[in-house]
Amino acid sequence: MSSPSPAFHDVVRSRHSVRAFLPSPIPRDVLKSVLEEAQCAPSNCNTQPWNVQIVGGDTLKALSATLVEELGKENYTFDFSFDTRDYPEPYRQRAAEQGGRYYQALGVARGDTLSRAEVVERNVRFFGAPHAAFLFLPPVGDNVRVAADLGMYAQTFLLALAARGYAGVPQTILGFFAEPIRQALGVSSDFKLLFGISFGMADGSHAASGYREHRIPIEQSVAWHE
Ligand SMILES: Cc1cc2nc3c(=O)[nH]c(=O)nc-3n(C[C@H](O)[C@H](O)[C@H](O)COP(=O)(O)O)c2cc1C
Repeated sequence: MSSPSPAFHDVVRSRHSVRAFLPSPIPRDVLKSVLEEAQCAPSNCNTQPWNVQIVGGDTLKALSATLVEELGKENYTFDFSFDTRDYPEPYRQRAAEQGGRYYQALGVARGDTLSRAEVVERNVRFFGAPHAAFLFLPPVGDNVRVAADLGMYAQTFLLALAARGYAGVPQTILGFFAEPIRQALGVSSDFKLLFGISFGMADGSHAASGYREHRIPIEQSVAWHE
């Protein structure tokens, strides 16, 4: 078969990061099938090194309250650093443009630090999502290979959600609070937090839902050798 089924095409192209969710949870059996499909992701030597913590209900509410507090105190405990200033061009510029488009969609002006802080805080409020997944890894060497496996897992998870009409957003920022998250979920310090994913049903009426990212043309990423 040379062309993918239209359904696959639609799922891949319609998936996007959602940053406003309705509170209603995903039924447990549906969520289990999403997780079973995510489990089909490839990994180095089939090691399947993802340790996935699914959080919802009162546990998620309590965790959100803790993270809002930690964010307010700028008490960051990340296992893996992240700073867009570390990116060389053209990646740094792309990151700046993405931020600009998102803040514009939300109607937040450049110098408006208070509103910007609220936008950041929405991350640790899980954008109102009824569920969050935390992706931990067992540290191996420089962790690059294991992190790649978790990336494969995360995209499969997001596509499995999209195929069922649900949505999610991967969030590196949740990884800034590795210690309180490990503590709240009883995860051993042997596991390192790569990122989290808030997920559920999109709130299509929210300003954040009117926002979409585009992609650079393949010619800028792909070289042909034949
Ligand atoms: C590993 C990873 C971490 C991300 N972290 C965040 C985050 O902390 N907060 C956020 O709002 N979006 C985050 N995003 C979402 C990206 O901004 C988004 O994927 C990108 O702008 C492309 O948009 P799209 O997912 O809608 O196609 C993250 C995405 C990935 C893959």
